[in-house]
Amino acid sequence: MFSVQGDLERILFHETTILSRLDEIAAQISKDYAEKELTVIAVLNGSLVFMADLMRRIQLPLRLDCLSVASYHGKTQASGEVVFKQIALPDVQDRHVLILDDILDSGNTLAAIREKLETARPRTTKVCVLLSKKKQRARRVDADYLGFEIEDEFVVGYGLDYDERYRNLPYIGVLRPDLIGSGK
Ligand code: IMP
Ligand code: MG
Repeated sequence: MFSVQGDLERILFHETTILSRLDEIAAQISKDYAEKELTVIAVLNGSLVFMADLMRRIQLPLRLDCLSVASYHGKTQASGEVVFKQIALPDVQDRHVLILDDILDSGNTLAAIREKLETARPRTTKVCVLLSKKKQRARRVDADYLGFEIEDEFVVGYGLDYDERYRNLPYIGVLRPDLIGSGK
């Protein structure tokens, strides 16, 4: 049978670990925004799985919009340039916006998204990421809500991809470095 588990160097977070952390984050968000309506802006495709699991744990009236950006193009190094794939931005004026992304790496993607959304005058903007790499960032971005901090390694699974693969793994693991750039 076709198996991808051998492509991983090691597993970092099992599904149960991820989901119990999401319980905690969702409880914190529900408390912080009590009595308010939240507008979640999910950054596709990486945050899809995270968003679906987190959203169902948040006990607030909530709207969802998605943004699609490209910053990776199948490699493991971000180009620094962030291309927005849609023409219209979601209507966030006067809303409490929570931007959701899978991982904070160089910071370029989230900094560009935050900047762009703020031109549409939301009432408040916060950022929630599942993972954050411990490293010097090209652009400073603070995550208001964070799942886990990780070392500067390339990870896949639970929505995160390498060249569009591995998104469907229910857990998060470190990809074997010899597979990166090997064209396999
Ligand atoms: P940044 O703009 O460098 O912060 O990176 C943003 C995007 O790069 C993330 O939303 C991911 O889609 C992708 N990315 C960064 N690091 C990883 C990783 O370790 N695995 C998979 N995707 C990653
Ligand atoms: Mg990606």
